[in-house]
This record gives sequence, C-alpha cells and structure tokens, in this order.
Amino acid sequence: MGTTLALSLRMNAGTKARKPNLDSLREQARDCRACDLWRRATQTVFGEGPARAQAMLVGEQPGDAEDLQGHPFVGPAGALLDRALVDAGLDRNKLYVTNAVKHFKWEPRGKRRLHKTPAQQEIEACHRWLEEEIAILHPRLIVCLGATAARAVTGRPVKVGDSRGNIVELEAGPALLFTVHPSFVLRVPGDARKHAYDALVADLKVAADYLD
Ligand code: URA
Repeated sequence: MGTTLALSLRMNAGTKARKPNLDSLREQARDCRACDLWRRATQTVFGEGPARAQAMLVGEQPGDAEDLQGHPFVGPAGALLDRALVDAGLDRNKLYVTNAVKHFKWEPRGKRRLHKTPAQQEIEACHRWLEEEIAILHPRLIVCLGATAARAVTGRPVKVGDSRGNIVELEAGPALLFTVHPSFVLRVPGDARKHAYDALVADLKVAADYLD
C-alpha cells in the first residue's frame, strides 16, 4: 500500500473542466511562445503515448537528441530509461512519456549543445501543457523522474532522495511515484552506477506492481 503525504497535484480548476484532445494540444504547443526557450530550440517536443495510458512518466526537458528528433527520451537518457523499464517489467508502448518543459534549453560548448537546467520561470511558463496532458489522460499513476518533474507536478520542491520508491496516494487524482532522472544514473561514476541503475529499476518495479 502507498503512503499518503500532504501533496496534491498542481492543477487549476479551469484545466480540469476543459478537455481538448492530445492531438489538438500537441498542435497548439507547436507554436508555444510562453517563454524564450523556443528561440534556440529546433522544435517543441510534446508528450507521446496512448491517450488511455494508465501511467504517465514525466522527465525534465528534451535533450539534444530529442530536440533534433522531436520525440521525448530518445537520446542516451532515453536508452537507459528504456532498459530500466524493460528490467522493471513495464512496456513503454503502454505509457505516456512527457517532460515538464517542452523545449530544449542549452548553451554552446565548442561544437556541442550542453543541457542547461530550466529556470523556475520556464517551468512555470510550460506548466499549462503538463496540466492539460494530465487532465486529458487521467492516469492512475504519475512517475516523476527527478526533482524538476516532481516540482512541476506537485507545485513544490520535493526531496527525491527522501521520497523515492513509494506510492504517494493523493486525496484526489492520480497517485505519484518519485524517482531519480535517468541522466542522474548516467552521471554516477564507476561501480556506483550499477547500484544507481538497480535503484531506479527497483523504483520502477513499484510502479509496475501498482499498475498490475
Ligand atoms: N531528459 C529528459 O528529461 N527528457 C527527455 O526527453 C530527454 C532527456
């Protein structure tokens, strides 16, 4: 059974009432100019997955590969996430995968485009898309991958290290599960990376059991 924390989803009443579909939402988000990130990004990277998905995975923002290809979690972090999902017994094709921020924020470093953490203001500007995705999908479970996702979903800072791996039942709406971002696992040096990966898989198994 899950724990109940004094958390709620950050949703406004208007969003709950309005219900466009995912395709029209994706179409609207294509031209989003709510913050400046669109100027340096190739395109909006919107969420993907079945509209009837029982679970939604929320990451931070698209990376370099996602920005170029236009799909969430298709770069190195996506490859690790895919492997972890398989090891946890979850089928990515049955999940809706999205990000708190829909444009890639980066700074040049030589020929490379280096990921830059989005500012709170940019997360705020993008929040309406995430809210609408949640309102349309009505998932049973939202898995927050990392602190940016956790904060975007709940509207407050969450210490992922302390809260990870437990199902958090809310009074209303989907349950939440917090875990680390796959990029965190990729940054762990040496032998400790295997441990970090196994811990991510263990958290995702909690999601798999909950959905069973
Ligand atoms: N990191 C994220 O948070 N999301 C992606 O889609 C890719 C990398």
